[in-house]
Formats: sequence, structure tokens, C-alpha cells
Amino acid sequence: MLILEGCSYRYAGAARPSLRDVSLTLRDGEVLGVVGKSEAGKSTLCLVASGLAPRTLGGTLSGRVLIDGADTAGRAMHEMATEVAIGFQNPGTQLSGVATTVYEEVAFGPMNLGISREEVLRRTEASIDALAIRALTQRDPQRISGGQQQLVAIAGLLALAPRHLILDEPTAQLDPAGTRLVSDAIERLAAAGASILVVEQKVDLLAGICHRVLAVDEGRVTLEGAAAAVLGDPTLHALGVAEPSTVRLRRLGSEAGLSGQAIEGALALATSQSSRVNDA
Ligand SMILES: Nc1ncnc2c1ncn2[C@@H]1O[C@H](COP(=O)(O)OP(=O)(O)OP(=O)(O)O)[C@@H](O)[C@H]1O
Ligand SMILES: [Mg+2]
Repeated sequence: MLILEGCSYRYAGAARPSLRDVSLTLRDGEVLGVVGKSEAGKSTLCLVASGLAPRTLGGTLSGRVLIDGADTAGRAMHEMATEVAIGFQNPGTQLSGVATTVYEEVAFGPMNLGISREEVLRRTEASIDALAIRALTQRDPQRISGGQQQLVAIAGLLALAPRHLILDEPTAQLDPAGTRLVSDAIERLAAAGASILVVEQKVDLLAGICHRVLAVDEGRVTLEGAAAAVLGDPTLHALGVAEPSTVRLRRLGSEAGLSGQAIEGALALATSQSSRVNDA
């Protein structure tokens, strides 16, 4: 369980805090989605929850971050890193910079955990398969596409088998097939008991995998609740967040005067067609 209690954070030299009095609880096995417009403070929330802010980035934090009930204040970054893994918004930032192949890149994190060689290989292989990057394993991680780097970065995080995982826009550069691989991997990791915080613009993805969702605006949590309730909240649109396609279709249908039955029929049809496309 990862808990933020009344956290406010100001970057070094900044005039104003970028996170204001944020409290949240991320339970074991839970996927918590975070939405909000640009500059709302989503990445800052990820940095605070992971311990990088203020430890590595400087700045000033008030409030408490608790992991499994223990206050993390005063703990060194290398201790935090064994408990909380973070995937950055820009996958290029994530790469180790020392691995010469994608295979080494995925294995890099677990190799530094002090686990057996067999376990490192097992996790590396499983992560490569989970993200379907087998064809890339001998490539230079610096010389692949942004979307490919994103899959490699997430494979590296999965190989850490983290108990707490924070993902900042993990599918920003991915096509629908890659997005599906990432969302399946998130669901499997959560089903195995990990707690996962995921910032995403793709609200349909969040609607599919999140138990709860938070909306952030100007550094504050403005909405929090069950995924369907928050993603269907009419005020979300005013915060600059897209509606999930089901919410949008229901709204457009009712504005066009369609009956509830006609709208639900059209939605059922659209859902069955899109799952057929995704499974193809
Ligand atoms: N290193 C930094 N130093 C000072 N201010 C920063 C720094 N990084 C971000 N900020 C500021 O903090 C606020 C929140 O930024 P943050 O990156 O958390 O937003 P975001 O919601 O992740 O946006 P986006 O959707 O564009 O990724 C912004 O006003 C931003 O300018
Ligand atoms: Mg961001």
C-alpha cells in the first residue's frame, strides 16, 4: 500500500507549489488512474509518490509518503527504488544509457536487485514476451523508435517485479496494439498484488483497467472515486480531459433524442466490433 498524506511540493526555485495538499491511498492489487490537463501536476505527483521529489530533484515537500505503513522520510533513494518503480513520461529518459542491446536494457534493472542469474533471465524473458519485443532484443536501445523505446522501458519495469509501480503516460507513443500490450501487462501485475498508479490521456484505457481514478487540476485532486463515476463526470470535460468513448456516445445519443435502448444497442454493437478488431 502506498499512501500520500497531505502532500504539497514546490520545485527548487519555483514561485508556487506544483502539488497542493494531495492525499491518496493506493491499495495492493489496485490500479489507480490519474487524469488532468497539461501542467495539472500529474508528473509531479508521480515524482513525489516515487520518492524522486524531493530526494533527487530537490525542492520542498510537506506531508508524508508512506509505504506499507512506514514513513519514507529520511530513507535514501536506493531504498525507495527497491519498493517503488517509476516509468517516466519520456521513455528516452528511462533508458540506462549503458546497455548496448534491448535484451541488456530489460535485464539491467533486475541485475541490480541482487537476485539470482536464473531469476534475472526468467524475468527478462517473460517481460520481453509480455511486450512482444522479441524481434528487437539485439538492437541498440538508442536506435529504435519512440514507441519501441516505450515498450522496452516498460519491459524493464516489469522485470523488476515491483510491488508499487508508477507509470507516467506509458502509452503516449504507442499504437492500439502496443497500448493493448501495456494495459494487459498492467492488469496482470495488479492481479498478482502490485499497486499501480497510471497517468494517462487515453481515457478508454483507464476505463478498461482502473479500479479508481483521480482528476488533478492546478496541483490539487478535484475528483476521486470509482473509475466509471469519475470518467463519466460531466465536470471532467471542463478540466480539459477527454470523455471515454462510451460516455461520449451516450451523451451524443441523448442529445440527438435517441432512446436509452437505441443508445445501449449501438454501444453493444460498437464494443463487440472493436473487440473483434483488437483480437484480430
Ligand atoms: N523541474 C521543474 N521546475 C519547476 N517547475 C516545474 C518543473 N517541472 C514541472 N514544473 C511545473 O509544475 C507544474 C506541473 O507540471 P507537471 O509536469 O507535473 O504537469 P503534468 O500534469 O504532468 O503536465 P503534462 O500533461 O504536460 O505532462 C507546471 O506548472 C510546471 O511548469
Ligand atoms: Mg506530465
